[in-house]
Amino acid sequence: MSVRGHLVALYKCSLLLSLRMLLLVPTGLPVSTQGDSQSDNKVMDNITVRQGETVFLRCAQGDVVTHTAWLNRSSILYAGEDKWSVDPRVSLVTLNQEEFTIKIENVDMTDEGQYVCAVQTSSRPRTTSVHVLVQVPPKIINLSRDLVVNEGSNVTLMCQASGKPEPSISWKLVSSSGDLASDDEYMEIPSITRQRAGTYECSAVNEIDTDVQTVDITVNYAPTVSEGRDVGVTLGQRGVLECEADAVPEPAFEWYKDDRRIFNGFDGLEIVKTASLSKLVFFNVSDGDYSNYTCVALNKLGSSNTSFLLFGPRAVQDGSGGSMGVHLHTCLLLLVFLPLLLKF
Ligand SMILES: *[C@@H]1O[C@H](CO)[C@@H](O)[C@H](O)[C@H]1NC(C)=O
Ligand SMILES: *[C@@H]1O[C@H](CO)[C@@H](O)[C@H](O)[C@H]1NC(C)=O
Ligand SMILES: *[C@@H]1O[C@H](CO)[C@@H](O)[C@H](O)[C@H]1NC(C)=O
Ligand SMILES: *[C@@H]1O[C@H](CO)[C@@H](O)[C@H](O)[C@H]1NC(C)=O
Ligand SMILES: *[C@@H]1O[C@H](CO)[C@@H](O)[C@H](O)[C@H]1NC(C)=O
Ligand SMILES: *[C@@H]1O[C@H](CO)[C@@H](O)[C@H](O)[C@H]1NC(C)=O
Ligand SMILES: *[C@@H]1O[C@H](CO)[C@@H](O)[C@H](O)[C@H]1NC(C)=O
Repeated sequence: MSVRGHLVALYKCSLLLSLRMLLLVPTGLPVSTQGDSQSDNKVMDNITVRQGETVFLRCAQGDVVTHTAWLNRSSILYAGEDKWSVDPRVSLVTLNQEEFTIKIENVDMTDEGQYVCAVQTSSRPRTTSVHVLVQVPPKIINLSRDLVVNEGSNVTLMCQASGKPEPSISWKLVSSSGDLASDDEYMEIPSITRQRAGTYECSAVNEIDTDVQTVDITVNYAPTVSEGRDVGVTLGQRGVLECEADAVPEPAFEWYKDDRRIFNGFDGLEIVKTASLSKLVFFNVSDGDYSNYTCVALNKLGSSNTSFLLFGPRAVQDGSGGSMGVHLHTCLLLLVFLPLLLKF
């Protein structure tokens, strides 16, 4: 270390000592009447600053100032124009006879606390202290994941947030008209029903901001098919039987003609499925098609069925033409199926 280095160190040391002495006085440790009468301590209003912003610490000088310093707790940030703090966010703004101002940029939670400006003048020492309060916007840090549950399960949603002041947390079901809500980190949904499936929103709110996140709950349940409506179709016309099911997850469908399962592409038939609806389409209704059909909807939680009648021409058409059509049609059918039947 150079001679100058030693001198600077010595100077800093003595300055620190004198400032420490100065600070001890206001806390009233050495009950010296002289100290009491000769020091002057002021507490300024709290400064509230948001995380990430810049705070200015301003202190009036006046008189003939010999030493002046800004301290963070007991460590010196600035002694006059000498920066003691190694923190690059701390810098000097103004130092003149009127004021001594430093600033702290990009303020964080750890910067919260008491800051003291200690001023030693030719007349009397004095300190000015200010409490810096740091506010942090809410942030949801721990949230339940999206859920898939069976109807009747007990569900608990969780949402935890950080922030200052501490955020208040609430839950609500937003996707349906349900009035389900909770003013807590936890939302209990005992024995969940299908009506309570949907998007749940967690809000974390404090004076500064709001953070919102959502969780989707899928509730699985076994299919229910709507009751089949019997359908009357004239011979040679297109006929459609519709089977609609309510189920989560989406159901699979099976069709039966009386007790025999029928498949897509079977003898002028097509089974068309769209989401929760299955259609049995007859391109050209023949006499043999008039029968009792059963639709079964299934998913992993169960099944449900309904039956329909596809009924005939007698109710729709008059005798002669109809029966001729029937005969002709039966002949054609036989012609088509005879080779097949003979194979067995
Ligand atoms: C300043 O903040 C501190 C700590 O939160 C509090 O105890 C004190 O009452 C506040 N003072 C003023 C003047 O608001
Ligand atoms: C103030 O002191 C606290 C505690 O030592 C520290 O965490 C914080 O970074 C300091 N802030 C500044 C601006 O020096
Ligand atoms: C989130 O909450 C769970 C359950 O309470 C806990 O085990 C976990 O440690 C939390 N995670 C964080 C990041 O706080
Ligand atoms: C749901 O909670 C109730 C009451 O605590 C309990 O009786 C029931 O067995 C639970 N149901 C399931 C599926 O865990
Ligand atoms: C329906 O089938 C009958 C008998 O096989 C046939 O005569 C008629 O042309 C067909 N109609 C249509 C629209 O394909
Ligand atoms: C149709 O078939 C179902 C199932 O086999 C049966 O329950 C129902 O009674 C039948 N309907 C008629 C009208 O025969
Ligand atoms: C239709 O449902 C009834 C009662 O729900 C059941 O007894 C029957 O076996 C079902 N039929 C089929 C084909 O699944």
